Amino acid sequence: MNIEAINKATQFISEKLTEQPKLGLILGSGLGKLADEIANPIKIKYAEIPGFPESTVEGHEGQLVIGELKGATVLAMQGRFHFYEGYGLEQVTFPVRVMKELGIETVVVTNAAGAVNHSLEPGDLMLITDHINQTGANPLIGPNNQELGVRFPDMSTAYSAPLQQLARDVAKKLTMTLKEGVYVWNSGPSYETPAEVRMIGQLGGDAVGMSTVPEVIVARHAGMEVVGISCISNMAAGILDQPLSHNEVIETTERVREQFLSFVKEMIASMTDK
Ligand code: HPA
Repeated sequence: MNIEAINKATQFISEKLTEQPKLGLILGSGLGKLADEIANPIKIKYAEIPGFPESTVEGHEGQLVIGELKGATVLAMQGRFHFYEGYGLEQVTFPVRVMKELGIETVVVTNAAGAVNHSLEPGDLMLITDHINQTGANPLIGPNNQELGVRFPDMSTAYSAPLQQLARDVAKKLTMTLKEGVYVWNSGPSYETPAEVRMIGQLGGDAVGMSTVPEVIVARHAGMEVVGISCISNMAAGILDQPLSHNEVIETTERVREQFLSFVKEMIASMTDK
C-alpha cells in the first residue's frame, strides 16, 4: 500500500474542504441518490483525485460528495470500485484508506444483494451482521504497512455491535422491518449458479453480492467502525424459476430507495446524537 499516494489524495481532498468529515458513506448500485441530499455539497470527481481509479460501471456517478447530512459532516462515495471491473483490491479499497487519513472514524457501507435465505425478499433491507469472503482474494495480501494497521487484523467484530444495535433501534423507531444476515462476497461479474447459491446457504450465507467485503476488511484494518446495510434486490439464482438481470437489481433498489434513504438518514441522525 502506497502511503505517499494515500497522502497525496488526502491532501488534494482536504484542501477543498471547510469541515472535517467524521462519517464515510459507501453507496452501492442504485443507492447513490443519498449523496444528492447532502447540503452544501463539495463534489469531487474521482478522475480529478490523484491516485483514484475511475469508475466505469453504469449507474454509478463516480464522485465524492462531502457536506452536511442530518447534522453530520459526511463524505459519500457516489459509486464504488468493484473487483469485477478489473481493479486490483488495492485500488478498490484506496478510497477507504483516504477516508481514514481524512479523519473518518465510521463507515456506512451499502450494497444491493441477492437473497439466498428464503425468508428474505426483494425490497427488504438487511443489516449485515457478518460476512463470508468467497473469493479467496484479500485486499491485505502483500507486505503489511504497520502504520496502516496490524499484519493479522481481527475480524471477530467486523460489523460494530453497538452500530448494529443502533440500526435495530432506528428501524423500530421508523416502524420499518430490518432483516439481518450474513453477506457473502462473490467476485462476479457472472451471477452465481443455483448450485453455488445452495452451497452459500449451507455455508451460512443469507445474501450474496459483488462488493463491500474488501472495503470492510480495509476499514477494520485501519481501525474504523463499520455498519453495513444490504438492499435485497432479487432472489439469488435458482430460487425462483426465472433468470437474473441487472435491470431487476436496479428496479428494486429504485422501488425501495425512499425507504432506504430515510433509514440511512435516521441512522446518521442517531449516530450524530450520540
Ligand atoms: N448475486 C450477486 N450479486 C448481486 C446479486 C446476486 O444475486 N444481486 C445484486 N447483486
